[in-house]
Amino acid sequence: MKTLVVPSDSGVSAAAAILASGGIVALPTETVYGLGADALNPAACAAIFEAKDRPLSDPLIVHVPDPDWIFRLAEISPPAARLAECFWPGPLTIVLPRTRLVPCIVTSGQETVALRMSAHPVFQAVAAAFGRPIAAPSANRFGRISPTSAEHVVAELEGRIPLVVDAGPCAHGIESTIVHVTGDRLRILRRGPVTAEQLAEFGDVQEARDGIAVPGGLKSHYAPRTPLVISDGLLKPGPNDGLLAWDGTGEGFRRVEFLSPAQDLREAAANLYAAMRRLDEAGLDRIIAERVPETGLGAAVMERLRKASAR
Ligand code: TXA
Ligand code: MG
Repeated sequence: MKTLVVPSDSGVSAAAAILASGGIVALPTETVYGLGADALNPAACAAIFEAKDRPLSDPLIVHVPDPDWIFRLAEISPPAARLAECFWPGPLTIVLPRTRLVPCIVTSGQETVALRMSAHPVFQAVAAAFGRPIAAPSANRFGRISPTSAEHVVAELEGRIPLVVDAGPCAHGIESTIVHVTGDRLRILRRGPVTAEQLAEFGDVQEARDGIAVPGGLKSHYAPRTPLVISDGLLKPGPNDGLLAWDGTGEGFRRVEFLSPAQDLREAAANLYAAMRRLDEAGLDRIIAERVPETGLGAAVMERLRKASAR
């Protein structure tokens, strides 16, 4: 199969047509690029798992075209309604008890469904033209680095999908925050652009420990092929090591990628995956990653670095 990359002006109607015919298509969101299919069509969703080599035990996020779909897809509670009202459209995924409308393949047989509404204008235009919810995991091979540009999607899935809608780099650059809502309890399953501090206003926040809570949250994830090591501050660079730098100069390293010269955590998150990919392609022995401060978005960045370093 030939993979076409098209700009968003011509891509929107082409993508909606593919979705309507039960196909899969890569779409931009404000977090990372997603691989979308009709969420209410089990066979279409199966094609997502196939293209990504993703195990069927790892459930998909359902992206709604408008907030009212939440009532058809999930049993909604007052705190969940407040979260959707405040953060949608945006980078927050809410896990709730599912209704019968949601196919089992989407939830991997679980009784909960993960819902989000993307704020990306191109994604929204496709969702509006299609008029139904879109199941979309990140558009990478299973276990690999999430794509933050159309070129990354092509590097991951060329020949496996018919179309990528190219809308340039993603604004956030890391995946949505996932929160499981039960009563007033909010359990963060994956850290992301919406921080624990922001969620605390809506209920009793519990942060799940790394790598256990999300079914797909295997300890190793978002991984480059080159071994990645988190710096303890004492690591000496070898002759063929690269640095993913936060506050270091990179002296002594063969290759350096600076996450944010201005030490801005938003910029660091937005650059993270593209920088990891460039280091991964440089033929290095190791990628040494400097720690970033674990406040706000920094917690989400460190969660990704820990998973990328797990072997
Ligand atoms: O920003 C994002 O969330 C991107 C864009 C494309 O929307 N999507 C994304 O999807 O990151 P994915 O599939 O790569 O990661 C979703 C995670 C998986 O680890 C999956 O296990 C978890 O969400 N998940 C999905 N449904 C769940 C559920 N019902 N309960 C708990 N975790 C769930
Ligand atoms: Mg993913």
